[in-house]
Amino acid sequence: MNPALTHLSGLPVETFMNEDWHVRPRLFRAAFPDFEPLCDLDTIAEMASDEDIESRLIQQKGKDWTLQQGPFEKLPSLKTKGWTVLIQGIDQVLPEAYELLHQFRFIPDARLDDVMLSLASDQGGVGPHYDSYDVFLLQMHGTRRWKIGPLKEARLRTDTPLKILEGFEPTEEYVLEPGDMLYLPPNYGHEGIAEGVCSTLSVGFRAPTHAEVLAGLLRDFADAVEQNTALKTQLFSDPRRGLCQTPAELPTDLIQFGQRLMAEFRPDASQIQKSLGCLLTEPKPHVYFAHNTEDMSPSEILDVLKARGIALSMKTKMLFSDGLCFINGEAIAPKTPSCMKLLQVLANEHEMDANAANSALQDKEFQYFLIGFAKAGWVETLN
Ligand code: SIN
Ligand code: CO
Repeated sequence: MNPALTHLSGLPVETFMNEDWHVRPRLFRAAFPDFEPLCDLDTIAEMASDEDIESRLIQQKGKDWTLQQGPFEKLPSLKTKGWTVLIQGIDQVLPEAYELLHQFRFIPDARLDDVMLSLASDQGGVGPHYDSYDVFLLQMHGTRRWKIGPLKEARLRTDTPLKILEGFEPTEEYVLEPGDMLYLPPNYGHEGIAEGVCSTLSVGFRAPTHAEVLAGLLRDFADAVEQNTALKTQLFSDPRRGLCQTPAELPTDLIQFGQRLMAEFRPDASQIQKSLGCLLTEPKPHVYFAHNTEDMSPSEILDVLKARGIALSMKTKMLFSDGLCFINGEAIAPKTPSCMKLLQVLANEHEMDANAANSALQDKEFQYFLIGFAKAGWVETLN
């Protein structure tokens, strides 16, 4: 697995993360000096035709924009100007993109969204817009001109199916060649226009919305509350309530009771940690795991993992935090520190070679979890 980058065009990554990340744009010329495209144009077309991969086709004719959802059996000719196909989540299907992503692991995995790939004909683009994500725009094939600038006002056009800024006034302009990379913080205006056929990778870092986190936490807390013996057995009480003269009216003391329960509800840090870990590793709705081990017995699974090593599936999201491990939306609390340590290694490294797997799988608890992961298609053999 590729190690995380230490420098970006000579700038220590640490300096970038301390000074620029989430704050201001930054251009990195030859960020990847020996950069090779991750795949060829035919592979891009193939991904765009795959029904399991999310893709969109955007075409511009004058002031008009059209948007179509994939899959696309056939893309327009590259000789036709002004179109772009966007392919989402290529890190989950293209090993080269998965590898590339590892070089960005100077940022927590929990912040990662996905790697998107765009292929454009001459003059193709998605119009001036802003994204709510941090993004690294890495030029893969050909040349793209980026016009960027802070947002004066985020007014969007109402006459297009795309989120296009009305009256965008760029302040800087850069022409990117293969291996060059432009970092943009969230909500920074940008427009990329292909100069000839080009492809661009967007390594996007997800910032969950307040609503998403709070709604996720509340859903989990609802489950926890329903299991809570004290809360389940204590009843609302109204001793000596007095005479009711408006029987259909919702009593004020019941409303106050609800308010008091909400105000007194204080989930502790460990509940929040658990809930957040599950939320942030939840696979996206269209993600399916291949069940290649369905017909295998647990001991056959162990033998093959020991012989060939262990690799997380490219689709697996795995995080850990203080005694808990999270994988694809589930929280695991290992009983032994040795198992926790092994799960941490797997989460950090994403793989174990046959030697490491052999020794790790001597741990009975780790063995138990790995059999489950393999059955779910969350881990695979390394080779
Ligand atoms: C593109 O690659 O064409 C669009 C990427 C972006 O602007 O976010
Ligand atoms: Co964008």
